[in-house]
Amino acid sequence: MTELFSSWTLIRTSGFLGYYLLTLSLSLGLVQSLSILKKKKAMLLSLHQKSSWYGLLTIIFHIILIWQDQFVPYSLDELFIPFFAENELLFSALGTLSFYLFFLVALSSDFFMKKLGFKKWKNIHFAVLPAWILMLIHGLAIGTDSSEPWALFIYSFSSFLIIVLLFIRITDNAAKHQSSSRKNLKC
Ligand code: HEM
Repeated sequence: MTELFSSWTLIRTSGFLGYYLLTLSLSLGLVQSLSILKKKKAMLLSLHQKSSWYGLLTIIFHIILIWQDQFVPYSLDELFIPFFAENELLFSALGTLSFYLFFLVALSSDFFMKKLGFKKWKNIHFAVLPAWILMLIHGLAIGTDSSEPWALFIYSFSSFLIIVLLFIRITDNAAKHQSSSRKNLKC
């Protein structure tokens, strides 16, 4: 029972929970503007925003637990300044960078969208893709569980899902663009 709540177990669980919530948020973001889901857009957008903030909160918990852990100690500098960590310099840095990028995207969307304007906001919003890739590499490379079949399933299924959703989103955007150009030509 104590093993279940040990800081190491909680670090790993929070890492996977954060990964799940941020992947869910990206997936919802990719599908919310699809033509076939027009009627569900408001609900999807709300879930998209909520899952990103819950994901970030979970990762803040992940970071606090790592800071408190005595087995592989991290100082605050090592946690928050990329490429400062003694343990797994590169893969720790990818976790930190991914966290900053996700945080930037969430902040810019919920608090600075009007100030930034649509174009700048959209450019910042695209940072979710590198953030997601960095978090995938971080989890795979640094995690104790990465060689477990269930962990490999999570990483490969989520990668497949994001690639498929990206493809659907790009195709849908292209179809929308084509139909609006046709309408303009008719006018
Ligand atoms: C968006 C940000 C982050 C996400 C989504 C994330 C996610 C994950 C995941 C999925 C694991 C794998 C757990 C396992 O295999 O058992 C993990 C492990 C780990 N993460 Fe993160 N992480 C993030 C940020 C950070 C940061 C900023 C640090 C600190 C530098 C960090 C340090 C670690 C460490 C040391 C482990 C290894 C735990 C172990 O298995 O022993 N992570 N993380």
